[in-house]
Amino acid sequence: LRPCKISLLLQSYVLLCVDLSYKIPSNTVFLFLFSPGSSSLGADFCLHGFQHVYGLPQHTDRLRLRDTSDGEPYRLYNLDVFAADLYCRLGLYGSVPLIVAHKPDRTVGVFWLNGHTPTVSGKASYVLYGKMRRLRPQTDAQTDVHWLSESGVIDCTILLGPAPRQLFRQYAELTGYQAMPPLFSLGYHQCRWNYNDEADVKAVDAGFDRHEIPYDVIWLDIEHTDGKRYFTWDPALFPKPAALQQHLEKKKRKMVVISDPHIKVDPDWPLYREARDGGHFVKDREGQIFRGTCWPGDSSYLDFSCPETRAWYSRCYSFDKYKGSTVSLFVWNDMNEPSVFNGPEQTMPKDAVHHGGWEHRELHNLYGFYQHMATADGLMSRSGGSERPFVLTRSFFAGSQRLGAIWTGDNVATWEYLKISLPMVLTLSLTGIAFCGADVGGFVKDPGPELLVRWYQAGALQPFFRGHSANDTKRREPWLFGEEVTAAIRTAIQQRYCLLPFWYTLFHFAHTSGLPPVRPLWVEFPRDESTFTEDNQYMIGGALLACPVTEPGAQTVKVLLPGSDEVKIWYDISSAKMYKGGKSLSLPVNLDTVPVFQRGGSVVCRSTGSGTCTADYQKLPLDVTVALNSQASADGELYLDDGHSFQYRDKKAFSLRRFSMASGRLSASEEGRFDCDTVVQSVSIMGVKSKPTTVNVHVPGEDVPEMSTFNSYRGKSF
Ligand SMILES: *[C@@H]1O[C@H](CO)[C@@H](O)[C@H](O)[C@H]1NC(C)=O
Repeated sequence: LRPCKISLLLQSYVLLCVDLSYKIPSNTVFLFLFSPGSSSLGADFCLHGFQHVYGLPQHTDRLRLRDTSDGEPYRLYNLDVFAADLYCRLGLYGSVPLIVAHKPDRTVGVFWLNGHTPTVSGKASYVLYGKMRRLRPQTDAQTDVHWLSESGVIDCTILLGPAPRQLFRQYAELTGYQAMPPLFSLGYHQCRWNYNDEADVKAVDAGFDRHEIPYDVIWLDIEHTDGKRYFTWDPALFPKPAALQQHLEKKKRKMVVISDPHIKVDPDWPLYREARDGGHFVKDREGQIFRGTCWPGDSSYLDFSCPETRAWYSRCYSFDKYKGSTVSLFVWNDMNEPSVFNGPEQTMPKDAVHHGGWEHRELHNLYGFYQHMATADGLMSRSGGSERPFVLTRSFFAGSQRLGAIWTGDNVATWEYLKISLPMVLTLSLTGIAFCGADVGGFVKDPGPELLVRWYQAGALQPFFRGHSANDTKRREPWLFGEEVTAAIRTAIQQRYCLLPFWYTLFHFAHTSGLPPVRPLWVEFPRDESTFTEDNQYMIGGALLACPVTEPGAQTVKVLLPGSDEVKIWYDISSAKMYKGGKSLSLPVNLDTVPVFQRGGSVVCRSTGSGTCTADYQKLPLDVTVALNSQASADGELYLDDGHSFQYRDKKAFSLRRFSMASGRLSASEEGRFDCDTVVQSVSIMGVKSKPTTVNVHVPGEDVPEMSTFNSYRGKSF
């Protein structure tokens, strides 16, 4: 069952019916392709037997896509929408034209590779060529999907699964695997519009140390520049940017600065002149350099669709060109939908002209993708190709996972926005964009202390973990709300850092197999229909079930512990208490509770102890937590490498350990060659039936087994 590819350039009108039933007798996928006119094209897919479809980021919506017969179709048009309405089908900052459909015995995907304003509607009953189709009886479930694009070619791939894991790999083979992030970027990021000056940055940095809260990166928004000219520094506020970065680097911390695609129209600025004279700007329909308004006022926009422009832009990040940049400076591409304050729908007019004479309408959804690509290339090149880049982008398209991280954009400090961040991150993960997260605390408006704590707890369980706030909000560094709040936030962030070996291992698998680190429950429990609409909770890897609290004043939370197929066992990771799967649980919570459960049959590695940043945690010893299933067995992996270079790829300098517990014996096999000092300090086993009499440790190649101590035995676990 390989993906089958159908690629057609349509001249006029084609009706095609492809019956794939010879390959998949019980699950036919019919494909109709047609072009209703010379300037738009569409396709209809009848997904037989499927009632649950997902995908199509980015919308502020639930995980499962809705029947759109009652209203607007889902629109995929990258736009800068400030504080977007919730549950809205209009386009947001980025798009991935992939639909994933799931039923108990099969997962399929439809990937519509077209960068031109597609709209997608999925309907239970629906109009085909103006005629109403007969509604099918309830027992014969079906989802009809209609793609419509303004222009371009039909380049459509059907991913046949049949299981979620296979679908992720098929999609990654088409669009690329998640880039392996540098380890620091999985730590906590502290951002604000703006940290005002060098003293402010140093004070916030010191605040984290004073309050013993680990963090890795401090971010600077647009005000760090000299008059919104990217690649420059405000001479009064940031006179010594390199020294500032070295100050942070001494503590193994990094800095990220913003770099947007609009360039201030300023003939006195060499970078503007270089871009203008090199022909690097998008043109208007008359062939003049396009001008629009953005942060600097009158601006022109780099044409990242042009390979020469991308190469020129990448070179702007070299250490000799980018004055004040050092090895510990990384980048954030914002406003790259592109945002044009005075443009139609606050973006570029569709008739603006790109390299090769292409109209903007043809490339619109790819604009941010190409900037992200050029920035990541720039950071890669400045190290001679040896260091992994880190670039965050707001706008994205299918394949952006190869380039770095994305966040969900300008959210609001309300409980509803916290709640919606979960399905938004899950939808991105399903469509390949695995390194993603929502701004902690909400960008717009001021969160109350309880919301802030709950958001840190939820954000610590998302792949990209950054606190951010707008320029007109009150300061909200974690220690500004009293000791109880500081302590709860400290715990949430510390727990994230302790879990980094697990997250990093999950990113290794995203990088090599396409499996996203966070997954809707149904990905892990594909036959359990009770999981198909669940988006308040999700899996981190195959081992942990996360159910962050997203309600104000919560006394209890309802947790669905899946397990209808076989008897599944779950363990509350904070108490090691055992629960049977296949039912819902009402869990009492207080402000410190973050409900996370480990699946019986899994092994999770954590750092033990504390530190100030990922580099500190990398040196800490590990605890291996084994959660036994009903057969008293468990499996899991640990991936380690240097955390920043490409030696894992070029020199196989990594270590992949596979832990396996069976018949009372835990063993570890190793793949790769990576010398590191990481030691396993403790093994915790949950689900042991009786107190063991002896524990033996055997280390291959060593005559004398290391002494082991037997610390505690608590209830049915120790
Ligand atoms: C925030 O920035 C915007 C855009 O530069 C500006 O108009 C506004 O006055 C700023 N607000 C504050 C409180 O600084």
